[in-house]
Amino acid sequence: MKASLDRREATSSAPDCVVSGVFERGEKETAFPRNLAKEDAYVKGLLKAAWDHREIRGKYREVTVLHRPDGKGRLLLVGLGLRARFDAEAVRRATAQAVRALKAKGVRTVAVRLPAFVNEPVSSDAALRAVVDGVYLGGYEFLKYKNKTEGMVEETTIALGEELEREETVLKKALDEERTIAETVVWTREIANLPADTASPARLAEEAKNLGKEVGLKVTVFDEKQLAEMNCGGILAVGGGSNAHPPRLIVLEYAGGARRGKTVAVVGKGITFDSGGISIKPAPQMSYMKYDKSGAVAVLGILRAAALLKVPPRVVGVMACAENVPSGTSYRPGDLVRTYNGKVIEVLNTDAEGRVVLSDALAYAAAQYHPDEIIDLATLTGAETVALGDDTAGLVATDDKLAAGLLAASQATGEPIWRMPLTDYHRELVKSEFGDVRNSIEIPLAGMLTAAAFLENFVDGKPWAHLDIAGPAYTTITTRRYQPPYMSAGATAFGVRLVTRYLADSPRGS
Ligand code: BES
Ligand code: ZN
Ligand code: ZN
Repeated sequence: MKASLDRREATSSAPDCVVSGVFERGEKETAFPRNLAKEDAYVKGLLKAAWDHREIRGKYREVTVLHRPDGKGRLLLVGLGLRARFDAEAVRRATAQAVRALKAKGVRTVAVRLPAFVNEPVSSDAALRAVVDGVYLGGYEFLKYKNKTEGMVEETTIALGEELEREETVLKKALDEERTIAETVVWTREIANLPADTASPARLAEEAKNLGKEVGLKVTVFDEKQLAEMNCGGILAVGGGSNAHPPRLIVLEYAGGARRGKTVAVVGKGITFDSGGISIKPAPQMSYMKYDKSGAVAVLGILRAAALLKVPPRVVGVMACAENVPSGTSYRPGDLVRTYNGKVIEVLNTDAEGRVVLSDALAYAAAQYHPDEIIDLATLTGAETVALGDDTAGLVATDDKLAAGLLAASQATGEPIWRMPLTDYHRELVKSEFGDVRNSIEIPLAGMLTAAAFLENFVDGKPWAHLDIAGPAYTTITTRRYQPPYMSAGATAFGVRLVTRYLADSPRGS
């Protein structure tokens, strides 16, 4: 996908299709909406005819395609839902729905009439950003392994027209920024979707190094020998079962765009495949565990966007990568593992491996970079999906300001997160009999929160926010039907837009 701005009307660029939107219409509403006059003129009155026949209801996911009588181009009108509930998310979904609907019709160039998507409370800036998200993410599919493909909309012109042409300069800046973010989400999905035979810890390290060269990041990779010297017993224990794909700790540094900016560490769980290990998972749905690296791959995306956008804070990305498989060299239930900060983990279930690799990564980030804030992303617990569903990430934070910043970024990006409590009760539950902390408890209670209580042992008291993305990190054949149309099948790259927004909005010099 390529998107660009055009100050003229949507019809001026002679696209394969003009895209516009319509609000949901009331039962008794008969008058043709005045703001659709241009659209109606473009298809020579056919839009009003369809409206009069009540074929256009304006409901979410509704798509109407009308051809011009001369055969030169078409109009797609997409439902925006109720005007009273209009927000940027409605625009994001509507435009994603539009490009998806046009795919099967062989349409390659579209022009979006931006004024149709600007309405209280959505500003022209917010509408533009939502359109960019919608067309890039809605148009994305993982096609690397497909021999036969249908093709996709390739070019989107976002047309300002007489209503918005005066805002061109400001909107151009918003376009540049949001395009970088949306392209980065697509780039992240491409890596997160790679299967586990390909996306090994070493391959993720290669991706990080290439990225570093491309956008100017310092990248350091620690292999299993160096991890042993560093006493990263957690990553080594989890990665020890895989003789084919040994573990890696990957560190990326972006120097920051502000002179006296804060340092934010962003840490990700990178289990390239989670079979459960010796505590092996049941066969159904195990294939989805190739997405158990989504947190670490999101870190890669966040660092890419941070460098390209030159966000104010200094950002350190840490990816804890390992493959969790059973073998003669696997770690076992009962093992006592000493980690980077000296604390000992009692392993009671080898399937609770995410927190074990994160122990070293969090402690390393805290000790080496003295971050002002630590944010981690991890597909950590099945309990997260039970509690919040597959669209929302769980947020556990030890700092209210950091939590508020992330919640604001969530509002702005439409990536839903929900804050959950962390109390002494959860801390008590993860105390270990033989070590300091145990990686699993006997009772199936508050699994997302006991996992967070475990992680807290490794952040050295720094302001910290944990995002459990087990639900929203990927869609399945079943859940995809209920997800917004900009969520492709497979990896979603959840967290990239959210955390990038948070970093980009961080004030300079604080
Ligand atoms: N990777 C899984 C969590 C997960 C489950 C992510 C479903 C996405 C979808 C994690 O490593 C895991 O297996 N967690 C266990 C922890 C338990 C053994 C304490 C779980 O949630 O069941
Ligand atoms: Zn697991
Ligand atoms: Zn896992």
